[in-house]
Amino acid sequence: MIFLEAARAMAPWITQLRREFHRHPELGNQEFHTAETVEAILASMKLEPRRLLGTAVVCDIEGALPGPTVALRADLDALPLQEETGLPDASEIPGVMHACGHDFHAAGLLGAAKLLSDRRDSMPGTVRLLFQPDEEGDGGARRLIEAGCLAGVSAVFGAHVRPELPAGQVGVKYGPAYAASNPFVIRIKGQSAHGAEPQLGSDALLAGAQIVTALQSIVARRVSPTDSAVLTVGSFHAGTACNILAGEAVLEGMLRTFGEESRRRLVAAATELVTSIARGLGCEAETDFTWGYPGVVNHAREASLVLEAARDLLGPEAVTVLDTPTMTTEDFGYYLQAVPGCFYHVGVGCDAPLHSPRFNPDEAALPVLAALHAQAAWEALQAEL
Ligand code: NI
Repeated sequence: MIFLEAARAMAPWITQLRREFHRHPELGNQEFHTAETVEAILASMKLEPRRLLGTAVVCDIEGALPGPTVALRADLDALPLQEETGLPDASEIPGVMHACGHDFHAAGLLGAAKLLSDRRDSMPGTVRLLFQPDEEGDGGARRLIEAGCLAGVSAVFGAHVRPELPAGQVGVKYGPAYAASNPFVIRIKGQSAHGAEPQLGSDALLAGAQIVTALQSIVARRVSPTDSAVLTVGSFHAGTACNILAGEAVLEGMLRTFGEESRRRLVAAATELVTSIARGLGCEAETDFTWGYPGVVNHAREASLVLEAARDLLGPEAVTVLDTPTMTTEDFGYYLQAVPGCFYHVGVGCDAPLHSPRFNPDEAALPVLAALHAQAAWEALQAEL
């Protein structure tokens, strides 16, 4: 089954869809126009989309032959960012832009839907399409799973555009591909006093400064040099005037790790460090770590399946096995905790990085994304038979 030729033939249609999404970006959980557009297109293929969570669209393509169910996922949300590309099809919504390629993902998955629904007569099993809201915010994936989207699903696949790969190149990472995240807030309570009489108070700002520095030792001394983690303190607020000891300090940051064991160990170590430094300086600290997105950890069998599908489709020279994960996060990890699967990358050859107001992916990669989704799902159905 060669999907690439068929996808290239429908490239103008997929491109037009992508531009439609791009002109009308919507933030997480507000993807109403996007969801309506997705539903209308699926309905035109004689499919029966279902709306979940307000702005999620789930739709089964049932093959004529018996077989398993596999899922393909695209995210729908845009970012709070003013576009600066100056292109004719730039965002028409002030301050909102598809700067992470989710317009690309939605259009590519609709392309795959068309490729697969045109071949329902010879398809064994069911392909479930997951058009998911709110990837950038509060983990739309987690809520869509709680709503039952993976019921009966034996494997799940998804993709993200990657600007540093040439357009149409495919990258697959075995094992850990994206980091897990733990955002945190540290509140330090001291005692205000006159700046001339520090012995009468407890300086929360000084404790905060020591804590910022000491937290860097977590990665340097609590993580194996051959493993990776990063801890960033991104904001520090304390004090009201130059001659008053700060009675309170608030730090906010993010810990990124690979593997649940490392994640739990580093959260515990950081909490202990913060508490004891604050206490040693006559203050008290409260540390609040949020359990953010889990890492994206690809399953070996499904990663091999995507690699083979990509090589069949595009030739071996267009496919790269990636050897380094990214420290960024992606809520696709929730799906991979529930069922086996693989989250892969499609190159869109672009100088501007993701989340840049000048992000401008090469649309030549659109038919590749559509065809590879279709091919991966098709081969997964065969593999599960
Ligand atoms: Ni993204």
